[in-house]
Amino acid sequence: MELYRACYRSKIRWDEMRLALPDEIDRTLLRIRRINRKAGVTGALLLVDQHIVQVLEGHTGPVLDTVYCVMNDPRLENIEGIIHEPADYRMFPNSLMFFRDLTDGLAAAKHPVLRPLLDHPGEVTRDEAYLALSHFACELQEGRLTNDMLMI
Ligand SMILES: Cc1cc2nc3c(=O)[nH]c(=O)nc-3n(C[C@H](O)[C@H](O)[C@H](O)COP(=O)(O)O)c2cc1C
Repeated sequence: MELYRACYRSKIRWDEMRLALPDEIDRTLLRIRRINRKAGVTGALLLVDQHIVQVLEGHTGPVLDTVYCVMNDPRLENIEGIIHEPADYRMFPNSLMFFRDLTDGLAAAKHPVLRPLLDHPGEVTRDEAYLALSHFACELQEGRLTNDMLMI
C-alpha cells in the first residue's frame, strides 16, 4: 500500500491551552501516540516558539484523517502545508511521534539546517523542511546503529 507524507506548520493558540505548556505537551503526546499506534501513523513534532512543525507518515487514508483531526484542533491556527506527497519510505519509522522542543535556540545555533524552522514571517519551504527533518531522522538512525552494535 502506498505511503504518504504530510508536513505542516501551525501557530499555537495559547488561549486554548488547558494546562501549563509542559503538561499540555506530555498529555497531548501521550494521547496522539496512542491514536497514531492504532492508525499506523508515525512522525515528528517540533516546537518552535510560537509555532509547531509536524510531519505525519503512513498509509494515505490514516495520514489524511490525522491531518483533518489536527486542522480541527482548537489549539492550532493558521495551518500552512509544507509537504503533501506520496512517499517511498518513512523518515521516522519507529516514532509514534518523535518530539523536540527547539524554543531555546540551542539546537538551531549548533545545526544550521534547523534555522529555517525558527520563527520568521516567510514560509518554510519543502527543501528546508526535508533538511531539518533529515537531521533528526539521521540522529535516530545513528542511535539505533549504536544500540545494535552494543546489542542493547
Ligand atoms: C500539536 C498537535 C499535534 C497533533 N498531532 C496529532 C497526531 O499526530 N495524531 C492525531 O491523531 N491527532 C493529533 N492531534 C490532534 C489532537 O490530538 C486531536 O484533536 C485530539 O486527539 C482530539 O481528541 P480528544 O479531544 O478526544 O483528545 C494533534 C494536535 C495538536 C495540537
